[in-house]
Amino acid sequence: MGNIQFNQVTLEFPGMSRPAVNQVTCDIAAGELVVILGPSGCGKTTLLKMVNRLYEPTSGQICIDGQDITRLRPTKLRQKIGYVIQQSGLFPHMTVAENVAVVPKLLRWPNPRTQARIDELLDLVKLPPNEYRDRYPAQLSGGQQQRVGIARALAGDPDYMLMDEPFGAIDAITRTSLQNEIIRLQQQLKKTILFVSHDVDEALRLGDRILVMNAGRIVQFDTPFNLLTQPSEPFVHELLGADDMVRQLGLLPVNSAMISLPEHYQNGNKPSVETADNLRDALSIILRTGAPELSVLEDGEPVGLLTLDHIRNCAVEANR
Ligand SMILES: Nc1ncnc2c1ncn2[C@@H]1O[C@H](COP(=O)(O)OP(=O)(O)OP(=O)(O)O)[C@@H](O)[C@H]1O
Ligand SMILES: [Mg+2]
Repeated sequence: MGNIQFNQVTLEFPGMSRPAVNQVTCDIAAGELVVILGPSGCGKTTLLKMVNRLYEPTSGQICIDGQDITRLRPTKLRQKIGYVIQQSGLFPHMTVAENVAVVPKLLRWPNPRTQARIDELLDLVKLPPNEYRDRYPAQLSGGQQQRVGIARALAGDPDYMLMDEPFGAIDAITRTSLQNEIIRLQQQLKKTILFVSHDVDEALRLGDRILVMNAGRIVQFDTPFNLLTQPSEPFVHELLGADDMVRQLGLLPVNSAMISLPEHYQNGNKPSVETADNLRDALSIILRTGAPELSVLEDGEPVGLLTLDHIRNCAVEANR
């Protein structure tokens, strides 16, 4: 349960010189967050829309939960799949609460259950219900509208989420905070997510694996680390900016570079990082504070030390 399989999936729109999606075969595991990355027009949206049957493939097969999706009625299928698009797609004449309630109403949930669900979801996406429930979409910022869009997509508790550049139209700072929300939600909810992006940093931050597409085909499907260190062809290397060492540091955890604490260690007032942070975070703290070394904390307790030299050695090691 929870997996998606594409088997030789092709979609040719009439009058196009090449298929929009061409012989795509891959397996997405349950609970995985896969980012679909590639240049404009490479077929990302088309691939996504075949999963909830907004488009039908010309040939090939898509299975979810091991079942061919053409055997499910589209309405039944879409209840299993939350869908979030770039412009949030909220109904402008409905309040936030009414927007979130669309799917529960379709499912004919009793009203108290629907109302409780609205509050639960608005809390989850960090929009306090008593403040936001009765607003209209026009009374929200772009980032808040996207949060409501995500709450609405989650309302029927789908096992799958399709997200088509949900943060594409949002400023960089808000986008980072929404990405953090997605990471947190994913740890909490464990949905299977297909997330379309053409932002490389977003893909590297969010993806358990990244499906790189070009001209309708899969070019490479692998973890961020493997894509950066073992690109299958120059296209992938260039797309990911794999020469960018700072980007690579973002993929390496602090504990890959830290040294253990010397005996009789006194923490003093050193700036600190957590073991779960990455070396890019650590580097930026060192650069910002000018501190010669950072203490590394786990559950608030110092467990190691990190200097600029350790970070540099680690980066050199990763590029061997
Ligand atoms: N409904 C349609 N009818 C005909 N051609 C289409 C249709 N939808 C998409 N296409 C074509 O299929 C190709 C893939 O389009 P798609 O929207 O999947 O690209 P994309 O990777 O999502 O691009 P973007 O990053 O710009 O959103 C494009 O060449 C596009 O012109
Ligand atoms: Mg698109």
